[in-house]
Amino acid sequence: MEEWKIPTHIAIIMDGNGRWAKKRKMPRSFGHQQGAKRLEELCRTAAEIGVKYLTVYAFSTENWTRSEDEITTLMKILRNYLADSIKKAKENNMRIRVLGDITRLDLDIQESIQRLEKVSAPNTGLNFQIALNYGSRNEMIRAVQQVVKDCQEGKIAVEELDETVFSSYLDTKGIPDPDLLIRTSGEQRLSNYLLWQCAYSEFYFPEVLWPDFDKNALKEAVRQYTARDRRFGGVYES
Ligand code: FPP
Repeated sequence: MEEWKIPTHIAIIMDGNGRWAKKRKMPRSFGHQQGAKRLEELCRTAAEIGVKYLTVYAFSTENWTRSEDEITTLMKILRNYLADSIKKAKENNMRIRVLGDITRLDLDIQESIQRLEKVSAPNTGLNFQIALNYGSRNEMIRAVQQVVKDCQEGKIAVEELDETVFSSYLDTKGIPDPDLLIRTSGEQRLSNYLLWQCAYSEFYFPEVLWPDFDKNALKEAVRQYTARDRRFGGVYES
């Protein structure tokens, strides 16, 4: 891997759990469970190859329209994941943060999130972000509301607002923009994910369904990223 260019930040849309389960004549919930297992393995691989930030879309602001059953399953997976991660925070050495408006989630989940963010904050390994009840437009509206409030209260002047200041009002404050965005299952859409942050990201859309996206698939994504010339508004990266 040494000659490879490792993206500092990879963002992932984990798509295709439902189709993966359907192919096996299993309920969609089984696909999500397998998808969650895959994610844990990929966090380890990402850290091993030198990725510093990994951000995944686990539940979007639009996902509330799914069946009650499916939402219950996803929340159950989340509860288990949070409880397990709190226990293993030290050994995993990952710093975990949640993006999105968590106030719509059940109180026990909100508390677990706060606890996990706190216990994992000193960790020095992979920075892992989970987008939950997240939507970019919602994130930007919340940011604008806070900017306006801060202007009214005299905390910042209107003229001070630039891209850097605006970024600091987003849920991703302090986290570099993704270098590479991966969406599995062949779909080629952003679906309201990190719209501001992905302004200069490379996009990669493998056909594989999320529960089959294994460590070799991640390495292949990085290999393809390495082969691309990245452009930032006209300047080629050397
Ligand atoms: C999209 O596949 C996937 C989701 C909406 C949920 C992804 C969540 C997980 C993998 C669990 C992650 C858990 C934690 C704790 C971070 P889909 O259901 O839209 O699949 P389809 O397009 O084939 O129907």
